[in-house]
Amino acid sequence: MTDAREYHERTKHTPRQFREMDFELDFDNQPRPSKVYADLPRQSLGAVVDPPPTPTLAAVASATADPAGRSDTAMGGDDLTTVCHYANGVTKTLERGGQEVAFRAASCTGKLYHVDCYAVCGDLGGVDAGVYQYDPESDAFHVLREGDYRGVLAAAAGGQAGVAEAPVTVVATSTWWRNAWKYRDRTYRHAFWDSGSVIANLLAVAHAGGRRAEVVAGFADRPVVDLLGLDPEDEGTLALVPVGAGDPVPDAPTVDRIDPAVVLDSDPVDYPLVHEAWAESTLADGDAARAWRRRFPDDASAGLGTHAPGDGDRVDLDPVDAETASARPVGNTIRRRGSSREYSHDAISDRLFATVLDRALAGVPTDCFDGGDGVLDHYCLVHGVDDIPSGAYQYHPDEGCLERLGDTDRETAGDLAAGQAVVGDAAVNVYTMADVDALVDRFGNRGYRLAQLQAGVELGRLYLASYAHRRLGGRGFTFFDDLVTDHLSPRAANQTPMTLFAFGQPA
Ligand SMILES: Cc1cc2nc3c(=O)[nH]c(=O)nc-3n(C[C@H](O)[C@H](O)[C@H](O)COP(=O)(O)O)c2cc1C
Repeated sequence: MTDAREYHERTKHTPRQFREMDFELDFDNQPRPSKVYADLPRQSLGAVVDPPPTPTLAAVASATADPAGRSDTAMGGDDLTTVCHYANGVTKTLERGGQEVAFRAASCTGKLYHVDCYAVCGDLGGVDAGVYQYDPESDAFHVLREGDYRGVLAAAAGGQAGVAEAPVTVVATSTWWRNAWKYRDRTYRHAFWDSGSVIANLLAVAHAGGRRAEVVAGFADRPVVDLLGLDPEDEGTLALVPVGAGDPVPDAPTVDRIDPAVVLDSDPVDYPLVHEAWAESTLADGDAARAWRRRFPDDASAGLGTHAPGDGDRVDLDPVDAETASARPVGNTIRRRGSSREYSHDAISDRLFATVLDRALAGVPTDCFDGGDGVLDHYCLVHGVDDIPSGAYQYHPDEGCLERLGDTDRETAGDLAAGQAVVGDAAVNVYTMADVDALVDRFGNRGYRLAQLQAGVELGRLYLASYAHRRLGGRGFTFFDDLVTDHLSPRAANQTPMTLFAFGQPA
């Protein structure tokens, strides 16, 4: 039995553990970054086209499933292919050190790309209803099943409104070994961080096109595993993302067993904690999913261990309005996105900083809550922002302000980030933090999944909001968990970090 609290505790990074670590990467046994089936047909369902030219900053700021100006435009094969491409596809191939390196639409820990997207759809313009696995390298789809199986997902999600009406629902999974090769037991966290980055892109492109889209965390995993023909010891389901609306799904058909053979190019090492943590967070059936979702109060922050503003000094933020903000379209931002390696110490403008936070942290639309803080609090270590003194702050999205908690400095920031000095070079570090004890008490192990997932989506949105600006770059980073809590205490004493994103002016 692996309680999520125990999993989290056992996978904390500490300076001592880093000093004593004798683990070495086995490059002769490195898994390939995509799934290869032995004998499944693969077909193109459409072309990758430019997403609508909606500004990135507008596309990432949707706190509800329905974006501004939503329309029930029909989905076609190009739309499906485009959404998957900009979420998880190979967007560019660059030469690095004489080798071709493929870059994906979303960032991923260690460039290991262990997240896959499956599309479960009804008949779309030019596409037959089916269950498909998206192949990031060819933009084509492996055909797992023919026929309309959307009802299976709707039943698994307990009739959740988005899934029940979506022409397509995307299922995100992680093949554990593809990340555990490097990150071992911490992969269960990474599964949500990295699928969160993929989903941030997916939401942005769907919302840019005026389509309904949200993150569904409450669903029975087993029926979805069976539908996709997965072995959960190897590959776990993480989240559903219904895209589009106005197309009620038919009743669930019988699901025959499939067991598509997968080609392995490496010899997986088992990290049982990862699979156990996932298995212990599963929901049994659609009724359990509905009951779990109902446990969330209308005011998502009530009793979730989050913190409303206290009596610290406030800095009111002044994000720029939609007319003045960067108009870079979301497709363009995703194509140019990368992870900045070095930062100049030059300060960034306070309004630029405020705009990134305002848009990226406006709130994630989920089946449990819409917008707001959700189950997380947000903290900033500010090192180089015009007119904002260096310091540790809590960011209050609803109030649009920073609340000062104390001092900080660049060296400390690097120490907290598992000794990565570059984090202190960046202008700002954003930590998302959760009260894991309170969440697991109230929402079980699934509550922990939700916190990691929200944090992953917000990290992905921070990437997009940063790269919407010509002068900004950023990167996700890992951290020494308890040192971060200590640094942000007493405010964050009940909380532990979920993710870290650093951004600033690339050097
Ligand atoms: C959640 C998350 C955590 C990350 N942690 C680190 C880190 O600790 N150190 C680091 O150098 N890069 C980190 N990265 C950046 C990845 O290594 C980077 O995204 C990957 O190399 C792919 O490069 P790209 O983002 O330019 O496509 C992280 C990325 C994510 C999404």
